[in-house]
Amino acid sequence: MAATALHTKIRVGRPQASNLSRTKRWIITLAATAVSTYTLDAVATTAGVLLAASHLLHGLDHTLVLLFLAGTYVAWWAGLHVNLKVNWALLEDTGTSTNVLSKAAYDLVKLKTRSARARRIAAAIGYVGTELAKETPYYAGAFGAALLSDSVSSNDALIFLGGANLGAAVYEYGLARGIRAFLHRRDARAYAAFETDWVPGEYLADYYSTVEPDERRTIAFFVDAMRDATPGEPVLFFGVGPTLHHVFLAAEKASEIHLGDYLPANLREIERWLRRDPKAHNWRPFVRHTLECEGLDGPAAEEITWREEITRARITQLLEVDLRRADPLGGGNAHQYGTVISAYCADSATDDKVMWATYMRRIAGLVRPGGTLLTAALRRSRGYLVGGKTFPSPDVDENDMRAVLEPCFGRENLTVEVCDLAGRGSHGYASIILARAHRRPNGKSGTVALEHTFQANQAR
Ligand SMILES: C[S@@+](CC[C@H](N)C(=O)[O-])C[C@H]1O[C@@H](n2cnc3c(N)ncnc32)[C@H](O)[C@@H]1O
Repeated sequence: MAATALHTKIRVGRPQASNLSRTKRWIITLAATAVSTYTLDAVATTAGVLLAASHLLHGLDHTLVLLFLAGTYVAWWAGLHVNLKVNWALLEDTGTSTNVLSKAAYDLVKLKTRSARARRIAAAIGYVGTELAKETPYYAGAFGAALLSDSVSSNDALIFLGGANLGAAVYEYGLARGIRAFLHRRDARAYAAFETDWVPGEYLADYYSTVEPDERRTIAFFVDAMRDATPGEPVLFFGVGPTLHHVFLAAEKASEIHLGDYLPANLREIERWLRRDPKAHNWRPFVRHTLECEGLDGPAAEEITWREEITRARITQLLEVDLRRADPLGGGNAHQYGTVISAYCADSATDDKVMWATYMRRIAGLVRPGGTLLTAALRRSRGYLVGGKTFPSPDVDENDMRAVLEPCFGRENLTVEVCDLAGRGSHGYASIILARAHRRPNGKSGTVALEHTFQANQAR
C-alpha cells in the first residue's frame, strides 16, 4: 500500500519545516504575543496622539468626527480580517501564533475535534476577543481625559480613537505581510529543489511504471484535443521532463516535435530513448493506451513499434527552457507554435500561485494566433513526492486555471475539466485539472460562453 502510494502523484500537505516541541511553540507564542501587544499599543497610541495633536480634524463638527471614527473602524476591521487569515495559516503550519488566546482556543478545539472549520473559528474568536479587550484602555483613557479635563473635548477623544484605529490597522497589515513573507520563505526552504534533488529515474519509477489513472485521463483528453490541432506544423512540449508518454499522441500530426525542459538530466533521459539505449524507459504501455484512445482496439505490437518509430523520427530538437525567464525558450527566441503541450510543468515549478499565473501566461505566449494550448495541472495540491522528496505545487484549482487562460484565449475558446480520481484507484492524489485552449486567428481573446465540463466524483 505504501509502495503504491509512492507510485502515484501524492497530494501532500504543506511540508512541515517546524519540528518545534510543544513547549517551544508556547514559549514562542508567549514571546510573540508580548512583542505584538506592546508594538500594537505603541503604534496605535502614537498614531492617536499625533492625529489629535496635529489639529488636522479640529474644525470638524461632531457628526463628521463620528463618521470619521466609523471609517477608521472599517479600516481596523479590514486589517484584522487579513491578519486572521494569516494567523490561521501560521497556526496550521507551525502551531504558533502572535496571540496566545488564539493559540489556546485553537489547541483546545484541536483536542476535541478534527474539524478545520472549528479550529479556524476558535482561533478567530481568541484573536478578535483579545483585540476587543485591548480597545478598553483606549476608551477609558480617551473619555476619562475628556471627562476630567476641560482642555480635552469629546471630539478630541474621538479623533484620538480614530487615529489609534488607523495605527492599529496599519500595524495589522504590516504584521500580516511579515508573517506571510515568513511562511513563504519557510515553505521555499521546505521544498526539494529541481537543481539538486530531482532524479529522473526516481520520477520515472514512481510515476511511470504503469499507466496510472491520472495519466489515462490526461492522455485521453490530449488525444481528443489533438483532433482539432492543425497538422503539418512543429509541436512544442514544454516541461516534458524525462517523459515521452504525451509525445506519441502528437507524432502523426506534427511535422516536427520539439521537446523542452529545464533540466539537462531530463533531456539526457529522453536521448537514451531516442538512441534505443536498452536502459531507456519502456513507454510501450503508454503508446498502447494512446492508440486505444485514438480508437484502435487492442493495438498489435507492430502498431506500437510503428508509432514509436514515427515519434523518434519527428523529434528534431531538445531545448533547455526556463519559465523564470520572460522568454522561456531562451536567447530572445520569440518563436511561436501551432500546438503547445505542457503538462504538470508550471504548477511544478513553483509553490506560489502568482508565479504560477505568470508562468502559465509565458507558456500561453508560445502559442501562435490560431494555435492550440493543451495543459494539465495537479488540483489543490501543495506538493508531490518524487523519490520521497516533496516538490512544490501552488494549490491551484479550475477557477485559477480559467482566470489565467481566459484573458489569453477568450472564454469560448477554453475548455477546463476537473478529473476527480478519488475512489478510482488513485491513492492519496485527489484530482487534476485538464485544459485546452485555442487562440483566435487574430490573436485577440473572445467573450462568449465558457465551455466547462466538470466530472463529478461519483464515489464521494
Ligand atoms: C512534474 S514534472 C512534469 C514532467 C512531464 N511533463 C510529466 O507530465 O510527467 C515537472 C517538470 O517541470 C520542469 N521545471 C521545473 N522548473 C522549471 C522551470 N523553471 N522552467 C521550466 N520547466 C521547469 C522540471 O524539470 C520537470 O521536468
